[in-house]
Amino acid sequence: MFESLKAMPADAILRLIREHAEDPRPEKIDLGVGVYRTAEGETPILASVKKAEQRLLDTQTSKSYIGIAGSAEFNAAMQELTFADSAGDDRLVTLQTPGGSGSLRVAAGIVLRAREGAAVWASEPTWANHVPLLGGAGLTLKSYPYYDTDKHVLHIEAMLGTLREIPKGDIVLLHACCHNPSGLDPTEDQWREITDVIVERELVPFIDSAYHGFAKGLEEDVFSIRHMAARVPEMIVSTSCSKNFGLYRDRVGTLSLLAANGATRDLLASNASSLVRTLYSMPPDHGAAVVAIILRDGALRAEWAKEVDEMRGRLQEMSKLLNAALKDRAPEHDFSHLERTNGMFCFLGITAGQIAKLKEDYGIYMVDSSRINVAGITPDNVDYLASSIAAVL
Ligand code: LMR
Repeated sequence: MFESLKAMPADAILRLIREHAEDPRPEKIDLGVGVYRTAEGETPILASVKKAEQRLLDTQTSKSYIGIAGSAEFNAAMQELTFADSAGDDRLVTLQTPGGSGSLRVAAGIVLRAREGAAVWASEPTWANHVPLLGGAGLTLKSYPYYDTDKHVLHIEAMLGTLREIPKGDIVLLHACCHNPSGLDPTEDQWREITDVIVERELVPFIDSAYHGFAKGLEEDVFSIRHMAARVPEMIVSTSCSKNFGLYRDRVGTLSLLAANGATRDLLASNASSLVRTLYSMPPDHGAAVVAIILRDGALRAEWAKEVDEMRGRLQEMSKLLNAALKDRAPEHDFSHLERTNGMFCFLGITAGQIAKLKEDYGIYMVDSSRINVAGITPDNVDYLASSIAAVL
């Protein structure tokens, strides 16, 4: 039976992890997968996480099943972190999910059950896995313009223009902050305009929040979610704790669903539960238990917030450092957009041939779109990186 299968292409982002690991050149640089790294090139466990893990180890008394929706304590803490004033609203339900991807998958199932045939509109471009993940679940994916590749700016007028044409009831997928892959986010005023169009057109916002804290700050980065939650009748929010808590492999995330009223909220909760049971039964406990400890303990929470500030600061510094180094090595080219982006990602804006040459000749790895993860840059490698880029331009 199995011989009838066809080989599948390797995931473009995850394949780079292996290629980089197998490259023997000591000067190699990994600008591929979205994982935070320190100036030493490491992805350490956050100090707040280590302390919470120790506390968990000392106090946990059972490994019995936790339940389909995960930990109620974690869900409440994440709802507060994400929604602030709307947390606890009886129109809102939050479930713990295996990472942001698990959340997206359950959300896709809910949308399919609620409105078969509704399309999900994603930014062009969007995270490389959005389309396979949501499309693979059976949703119809369409796109709205987002990034102006020539000017390296957010194409806000074109985006709003398309949103105004979207059929009533369709779903609009948005990135809360640190747009993956462009790093360009709407301003608060632009979020207000987007919300007005969503309300006017009776669209359903579906916000993916995978980089909370990495753009401007823990309050600022969820502006879109909080602003919309107070204005729209229905909404979907997926969050991930992979980056801001550094819990990548522990698979921690949430799915929050906002309904028009409490009765519909109960329908959402029941449908989400039945979907989860058939997909993965229940989420893993460890990472979410750690997050709940951190968010519920004043001192640990403050320590974690400081660690998030530090990670964000390093990303901002590295974008500036690379732009400065490129100004020096390739003065005839303009890379100033690097400093206008938020979070881990931005487009270098180079060609596929130049990307291939950087890999082959210099051991510098990035995805084919020229998206780079600036966390791979360090004060020690930035000169080599800028000279290599200048050499292939
Ligand atoms: C990325 O875009 O690199 C990250 O979100 C990691 C992933 O799973 O793709």
